[in-house]
Amino acid sequence: MHLRTNESRQRRGTRPGSTASHRTPSPACLSSDQALTARINRWYDTKMFLGGRAKHTFANFGYWEKDTRDYGQACENLTERLLAFLPEKRGTILDVACGKGGTTAHLLNYFHPGNVTGINISEKQLERCRINAPGCTFLLMSATELEFNDESFDNILCVEAAFHFNTREKFLREALRVLKPGGCLALSDILLKHPRGTRPAANQVPNIMEYRDLYKRSGFQHIQITDATVECWVGFYRQAMRRLHNRVARGRIDPAFARRRRARLMRVRETIERYVLVGVQKRSIAQRGSGPSQDILPASQTT
Ligand SMILES: C[S@@+](CC[C@H](N)C(=O)[O-])C[C@H]1O[C@@H](n2cnc3c(N)ncnc32)[C@H](O)[C@@H]1O
Repeated sequence: MHLRTNESRQRRGTRPGSTASHRTPSPACLSSDQALTARINRWYDTKMFLGGRAKHTFANFGYWEKDTRDYGQACENLTERLLAFLPEKRGTILDVACGKGGTTAHLLNYFHPGNVTGINISEKQLERCRINAPGCTFLLMSATELEFNDESFDNILCVEAAFHFNTREKFLREALRVLKPGGCLALSDILLKHPRGTRPAANQVPNIMEYRDLYKRSGFQHIQITDATVECWVGFYRQAMRRLHNRVARGRIDPAFARRRRARLMRVRETIERYVLVGVQKRSIAQRGSGPSQDILPASQTT
C-alpha cells in the first residue's frame, strides 16, 4: 500500500473532511466539504441499499447496446468501455468512488486483487465492497484528497462520480500526482445543466469544450472524450420506463409508486446535459520536457 499519511486514521473513518454515513455531525459544525460529503452519503447510503437496488453491486446507468439483456450486463459493458481506454490492463489500479464494489469486482477479471484499491467517502458502502470484491484494499478517502504517495498507481478508474467532486480540477491534480509516468485515467462523467444538492456549484462545467480544457489544464495528454449520452443515460431511462410499465401491467407494483418513479426519472432527465466517457494519460518519463502535450482526437470517437 502506498499511503503517505497515517493509515489508521482512515480505517477509523476519522479523517478530517470525511464524514462516515452513520455518524453525521449536526450541520452547524460542518465545513462545506463535510456538509457535501454528508449530503452525498445520505443519498447513496439510502438509495443503494433500498428495494431492488440493494441486490445490485453497481450503481451507475450502464452502457446499453441492442443486445444488452439486463442492468448488470449494462454496467459490465460500461466498465469494459472504460477499460478499453487503458492500453495495458496490468499493474496496479485505483477505483475512485467505488460505490458498493461492482466496478472493483469487475477489475478482478484483469488485475490481481492485491493490485486493486478502491476508495469512497462512505464506510457503509466500503463494508459492502469488502464482501463484493474480496482481497482488494478499500479505504475511506475523498477523490479530491488522495492520501497515496506520488506515482503509486499504473491506472485509475472512476465511474460516474466526478460530477459530485469539489472539484474535478482538484481530483485531476491528485490523479495526475498519484499516477505513474505513462499511467492512464479512465472515467465516465455527467455534464449537468444545473448544479444542486449533491452536485457542487464550483464543479459546474457549462460545455464540452470547457470540459476538455479541464484535462488539458491539468496536464494530461491523449485526451479522448466520447459522447455516450444515448448509450448510457438514454439507454438506462428507456429500460427503466419500460420496466415500470411491464411491472404495473403484471400487477407487480402499485401504479402510484410507478408514477412517482416515472416523475423522478423525468426530473433527472431535465438535469442531464451529456454523459461522457473519458480516457487520458500522464506523460511518460521519455516525454517529460518535450513541450506541450498533443491531444489525439480521432473524429469518429470524440466530441
Ligand atoms: C453513482 S455512484 C457510482 C459508484 C460506482 N462507481 C459504480 O459505478 O457502481 C457515485 C459514487 O461516488 C461516491 N463519491 C462521491 N463523492 C466522492 C468523493 N469526493 N470521493 C470519493 N467518492 C465519492 C459516492 O459515495 C458513490 O459511491
